[in-house]
Formats: sequence, structure tokens, C-alpha cells
Amino acid sequence: MTQTTPHQRDLAGESWNPGQYLKFADHRLRPALDLMGRIPLEDPQVIYDLGCGSGNVTRLLADRWRDADVVGMDNSPEMLERAAADADGYGGNVRWQTGDLANWQPDREPSVLYSNAVIQWVPDHDELVPRLWDLLPPGGCLAVQAPLSWDMRSHHLMREALADGGPDGRALGSRELRTAVGNRWVQDPDFYYDLLAPQSAHLDVWTTEYQHVLTGDDAVLEWVTGTGLRPILNGLDDGEREIYLEEYRRRLNAEYPKRADGVTLYPFRRLFFVAVRK
Ligand SMILES: C[S@@+](CC[C@H](N)C(=O)[O-])C[C@H]1O[C@@H](n2cnc3c(N)ncnc32)[C@H](O)[C@@H]1O
Repeated sequence: MTQTTPHQRDLAGESWNPGQYLKFADHRLRPALDLMGRIPLEDPQVIYDLGCGSGNVTRLLADRWRDADVVGMDNSPEMLERAAADADGYGGNVRWQTGDLANWQPDREPSVLYSNAVIQWVPDHDELVPRLWDLLPPGGCLAVQAPLSWDMRSHHLMREALADGGPDGRALGSRELRTAVGNRWVQDPDFYYDLLAPQSAHLDVWTTEYQHVLTGDDAVLEWVTGTGLRPILNGLDDGEREIYLEEYRRRLNAEYPKRADGVTLYPFRRLFFVAVRK
């Protein structure tokens, strides 16, 4: 079996720090609940939370559908460890599973495949989405949310600071790193509509722009440090990381200034789709 090195895991976005991610748990929960609220099934038997992270949303799925067998799947040992450690206090049956969404297969026929804020890390959606869809029986539901962050100013600045944020406007990091962070896996809404509509009994596709009200210094930097920035921070050596962070912080704070009341508003666009199979 081929072993994945820590560096390869970082480039693929697979190395996570649950503590940093959960700093904004309230903000990150809102889209997860908005997605859950649109699942039109009354009594699903088997629910998979694909890319379940620290499992807080998985347990809410189990709490909403208490008779269902709910499985949280993730490829991060750190996230699954956190998920298993917090397992008390919610109703329903939850179990945890290690897997890679790129080739995952369910161990029971799914009623719902739910995935919140994960597919932006997985390439080739023209293969991924039809493969997940084909795992569902008639009446089964695919519910997905993904950030449309690639085009946001924070993420443009993230890539630009890597391309020219070094001394004398030089690039930082390896070419491999700069290529990896330039990848855009999430497609426009009509792409998912076209894939799913022909075999859907019900299809809901929408985008929402949240205005996250953040407090504290360097609020946007703190936010992205828990998610999109990880491959860059892990891919730079200590010296370059310090230079990069200073430059990226400066550009972010100019783009997202702290308001007089101490708040930083962070507009964040997300794509959702919920489809039920014919
Ligand atoms: C932004 S977090 C979202 C966690 C959770 N769904 C939530 O809403 O809080 C992204 C999660 O996707 C997982 N992930 C990324 N790529 C994955 C893959 N190829 N297979 C399985 N999980 C993956 C990460 O380990 C991480 O836990």
C-alpha cells in the first residue's frame, strides 16, 4: 500500500487542527443546519455524514432522526479522534468511520448522503458527484454544501501573497504548493444542476452569502487559519511562513478593516444542493 506523507496530506488539505476549526463553530454551524433543514425525507434509515470533521453536525443529524443509523466518515485521524471523544449527550446511534471521499463505499445502503464543507477538498466533481448519486436507491437524498471561497477576496489575497509576498516581490514556497493552492474544485451551480436533474424527483440548488460578524484582531486570518490556509502554512518552512503571514495579514486587514464597534464583517458565499433520486 502506498503511504501518504504528512506533506502530501497537507497539500491535499487532509491535516486538520480541530481546535482552530472549532473557534468559529457557531458561524460554521449555520450553513450545516440550513442544509439539513432542506432534506425532505421523513424517516431515513441510514445517514452518512461524509467528511464529518469533529462530529458536531453528525450528532445533530442523529438527534433529528433518532431511529436512523448515522455514520460519520472522515479521512482525518485528528478529527475522528475528536468526534469519538465528544460522543456523549446526543440521541440517536452514531458510529465513526475512516474513509476517503474520493473512493468511499458505504457498508449499508444509504438513505441520505450528507456532506457539509468537504467537497472543496476533493477533485473531479464530474466523477465524484455521479458516483455518490449512484450509491443512492430511489428516494435516497444527496445533500451537499460547499464554500464558494475560491473567488472571494480573502482567497485571492491568499494566493497572491504566496505568488509575490516575499522580499522584493518574490514568490514563496514551492511551485508544487503554489499549484496546489490554485486548484479550484467547486463548480458553478448549473454544473451540479445538469448532473443531477435528469434523475431527480426533487432538486434544490441555491447559493447564500452569509455576513459573518467576527470579533477580535486579525479575524479573517484566524478564520482561514482553521481551513483554507492550512496547506500553505504547513507547506512553508518556518522563515517563509513568518514572512507570508505578516504579508497576508497586512493585505487581509486592508481588505476587511475592523469597524468602529470592533467587528469585522466577512462576507462568505456558499453553494448548496439537495437532490432526491427518482
Ligand atoms: C471544513 S471541515 C467540515 C467538517 C464537518 N463536515 C462540519 O461541517 O463541521 C472539512 C472536513 O473534510 C474532511 N475531508 C477533506 N477531504 C476529505 C476526503 N477526501 N475524504 C474524507 N474527508 C475529507 C476533513 O478531514 C475535515 O474534517
